[in-house]
Amino acid sequence: MRGIPGRSRRLAALAIFVLLAVLAGAVWIGYTGWESTAVIMPAWGWLMMSLGIFFTVVVGGGLMALVFFSSRTGFDEATELQIEYDPKDMTIGIIGAGHIGDTLTRRFSALGHTVFVANSRGPETLTSLANETGTTPVSVREAARSGEVVIVTIPENKVPSLPRDLFAGVPARVVVVDTGNYYPQQRDGRIAAIEDGLPESRWVEQQLGRPVIKAFNNIYAQRLLEGGKPAGAPGRIGLPVAGDDKAAKAIILELVDQLGFDGVDAGGLGESWRQQPGTPVYATDLDAKGVRRALSEASPERKSEWRAKVIRAG
Ligand SMILES: NC(=O)c1ccc[n+]([C@@H]2O[C@H](COP(=O)([O-])OP(=O)(O)OC[C@H]3O[C@@H](n4cnc5c(N)ncnc54)[C@H](OP(=O)(O)O)[C@@H]3O)[C@@H](O)[C@H]2O)c1
Repeated sequence: MRGIPGRSRRLAALAIFVLLAVLAGAVWIGYTGWESTAVIMPAWGWLMMSLGIFFTVVVGGGLMALVFFSSRTGFDEATELQIEYDPKDMTIGIIGAGHIGDTLTRRFSALGHTVFVANSRGPETLTSLANETGTTPVSVREAARSGEVVIVTIPENKVPSLPRDLFAGVPARVVVVDTGNYYPQQRDGRIAAIEDGLPESRWVEQQLGRPVIKAFNNIYAQRLLEGGKPAGAPGRIGLPVAGDDKAAKAIILELVDQLGFDGVDAGGLGESWRQQPGTPVYATDLDAKGVRRALSEASPERKSEWRAKVIRAG
């Protein structure tokens, strides 16, 4: 949601109502005069008063309701915090502008969202992407502070290189998404905690010091760019979304749908190993039904090709 946050919106609504009430009172007093209101009011005075009340209650109340309900509201059952957002007009920070970051920047900006994008080399290296998409290149720290949703989409082994205090002071309602995959043999090297069985996104969560939602990790960037279809279209690809905060997950499921995919609730982050590399749902472009089945058939054992190679001495 661009613009006014929820509390300010409520205050604005209240201010409009009070302003209209004062205006109505002033009109009434102006026409009737103090004397006549206090003693005996002429018929036209009553008319003006009725108009004033009508104006305040109907027009003021209507305006107030309009401003008050101008965003959709999600409800986080876990924290009982109300999260307000306009799903069609969100601010999205993207950290990483490679295959997935570039794709999401293009897709979300085309949908009308306001996107702030960062990479490791600095905003000056992102001007052509920004000019093409109408997005804003920023530093990594700015990207973390620029969104209602912040997507971290960098190689797993680079996550520890992000500033340790990246999300310090970022409100808890900001949803952080992890698109990452652990590629020990091809890219990331050994990450002991993941090798020992910690779900990849739990490890990312620990590095960031923030709860994350795992999404967009099981689809290739090209399919994400071009494979979206309208809701209900045959063969629409399903994408699993895992996370512990139901309200945060609902926001990401909504964004997945806007991108042209069927979001599938894949459970809590503790279950997110079901969508990691090597599982039946990984890079297989299944529909929603297929995704549910694949998630249920996944095994927590890491296959050898998704484990770090053991280096033997001698
Ligand atoms: N490629 C796919 O199809 C795909 C699909 C699903 C999930 N994923 C996963 O999503 C993640 C990103 O993949 P990718 O393929 O998009 O990676 P990529 O093409 O290699 O791009 C990596 C991006 O991360 C940025 N980056 C690296 N370290 C950074 C740091 N410390 N601070 C800020 N930005 C940093 C890089 O910026 P610089 O260029 O400036 O260094 C680059 O823009 C990976 O975990 C990957 O496994 C990839």
